[in-house]
Amino acid sequence: NDLERLADDVRRADTVVAFTGAGISAPSGVPTFRGDDGVWDKFDEGQFAYGRFQRDPEGFWADRLELQREMFDGEFEPNAAHEALAAMGRNENLEAILTQNTDGLHGEAAPASDGTGGPDTDDETTILELHGNSQRVRCTDCGKRRDGDPIFERAAGGELPPTCDCGGVFKPDVVLFGEQLPGAVIQRARSLARESDVFLAIGSSLVVEPAASLPRLAASSGATVGIVNLESTPCDGIADVVYREDVTDALPRLRDLVLE
Ligand code: OAD
Repeated sequence: NDLERLADDVRRADTVVAFTGAGISAPSGVPTFRGDDGVWDKFDEGQFAYGRFQRDPEGFWADRLELQREMFDGEFEPNAAHEALAAMGRNENLEAILTQNTDGLHGEAAPASDGTGGPDTDDETTILELHGNSQRVRCTDCGKRRDGDPIFERAAGGELPPTCDCGGVFKPDVVLFGEQLPGAVIQRARSLARESDVFLAIGSSLVVEPAASLPRLAASSGATVGIVNLESTPCDGIADVVYREDVTDALPRLRDLVLE
């Protein structure tokens, strides 16, 4: 069947790239942006635009705390889909995971062997967080990155906006609307898509750039493109196989076929 053929392609490929969106973290309890109960039904994207942050850092941070609570409240852990990709990575079937998610769950599913939590070493799967990481903040003046939790607590306690020792304003270490993705990151993502023999788009509506163009770039460079998503996407037409399935069903099955 289709999944067996895809597993064969994955096994034979030199370069397999997985591209993930909010749908892969939905089974971990992190809400998606679009679709049922999507975050953008409750919030206005404009509240979190870069222009808003620059104009009104205090209001931005107040809203950001609410978004943070809505999305990342309580404990959440990698699920069977994150684990399946991590296992394929450990077996050297997966070159890279490009993710739009800022929840850090791919990194948690694939901790580095040196115990640092940073999985991006030579012999391990590259994890590229295209939109940054919501559990960190970054000073807009000195550029220093800090663990987000204590800073969010300070903001919740009334320090709006929270500031760095240097006096600069902290910004969540994520790409906001109206902000460019770092050039080096987008270049790397595009070259991985071009190099890939198999490109798997997983749990993304594929409507926001660069999500919308990476599967097309991979397809036009000759990759086999597979899509796993509950809803249809604008890229379904260019995909070789489309699984309208839950990620926690499809990916463990694919892993079992690849590793068997
Ligand atoms: P979306 O919320 O747009 O899409 C998530 C997709 O996952 C939807 O099409 C769902 O049908 C699907 N889905 C949900 N649960 C699933 C499950 N268990 N199994 C399979 N599929 C499932 O999320 P993204 O495509 O990641 O950007 O959104 C892209 C970007 O738009 C985000 O990174 C964010 C947002 O605005 C920024 O914040 C800059």
